[in-house]
Amino acid sequence: MKVQPVGIIGTGKYVPERILTNQELEQMVETNDEWIVTRTGIKERRMAAAAEATSDLAFEASKKAIEAAGLTAKDIDLIIVATITPDMFFPSTACLLQDKLGAPQAAAFDLSAACSGFIYGLATATSMISTGLYKHVLVVGAETLSRITDYTDRNTCILFGDGAGAVVLGHVEEGRGFKSFELGADGSGGELLKVGGGGSRMPASAESLSEKQHFIHMAGNDVFKFAVRIMGSAAEEALAKAGISKEEIDLLVPHQANIRIIQSAMNRLRLSEDKAMINLHRYGNMSAASIPVALAEAVEQDRVKKGDCLVFVGFGGGLTWGASVLIW
Ligand code: UT7
Repeated sequence: MKVQPVGIIGTGKYVPERILTNQELEQMVETNDEWIVTRTGIKERRMAAAAEATSDLAFEASKKAIEAAGLTAKDIDLIIVATITPDMFFPSTACLLQDKLGAPQAAAFDLSAACSGFIYGLATATSMISTGLYKHVLVVGAETLSRITDYTDRNTCILFGDGAGAVVLGHVEEGRGFKSFELGADGSGGELLKVGGGGSRMPASAESLSEKQHFIHMAGNDVFKFAVRIMGSAAEEALAKAGISKEEIDLLVPHQANIRIIQSAMNRLRLSEDKAMINLHRYGNMSAASIPVALAEAVEQDRVKKGDCLVFVGFGGGLTWGASVLIW
């Protein structure tokens, strides 16, 4: 039986209004705009309002993606939210989103693969549509990283921001859609990037709070080396699986962690920088939301045309990584 291809039929994004600039960070920690821009490429990032949680950001992005797909919430039969900053332990952010959207017919679950979560979500949704289990799947990457960022730690607080991106996946015509996925994990590197407190290993306590265990802890340099190695190789693996050459790439949509990491991936793929969708100077690293927000902006800016070859590639805590090739 021939399987009908699966692709992206709608995109949407939402970022909170409040902008946190490098100049403001200079007042908070021992840092400066020049260091942040040259070492990371980031100039500003967004911060959720006090009353905004991850599901609120996800809701705004999802409404746009569903509308762009020409559907209503009633047409969505599965919701996957990739996040490491859920509203709460449970119910899942996907269930909260299902209720906000008014999609009672949809199954819903969260997916935890840190910054690679959105690509893991795309792979999961594509498989489920291909097998005939579901028809229209909403995949969301949404984060309020400001809630787990220590604004006294200059190693991390300069990097992260809040936002949400959403896509609707469904059947597309022959020749289009997802051509390959490359997912991976290396749990032995889990210590390099984590929030240790609040789980069953270290339940919240006065001690865990005073030790700042509920914030992101990161060995930046080690994560950087891993990222430089894995971004290029994961993209190459996905291309090889798809039988597509580097020269055929029209747009790379990478995880937006650090401009130097993106540039090294571009060098390895021998692509010029104009073939990458880059928006990290405005948003910083939004973990699972980075790739879908970048994609939604590429669509808004008419940077993707029917038939274009897109490559998504990301890495993150876990450690995890993922890449995918899509014909738009
Ligand atoms: O989604 C995945 C999440 N994580 C990542 O993507 C992180 C990947 N890693 C990185 O992007 C980079 O490692 C960082 C941007 C975090 C750090 O850049 P780096 O070039 O690796 O700097 P470094 O950690 O080697 O630090 C160099 C110097 C140090 O000073 P000394 O020891 O040489 O005197 C740091 O203390 O820069 C200092 N430094 C800062 N200076 C000003 C570290 N953070 C800052 C800062 N402002 N914010």
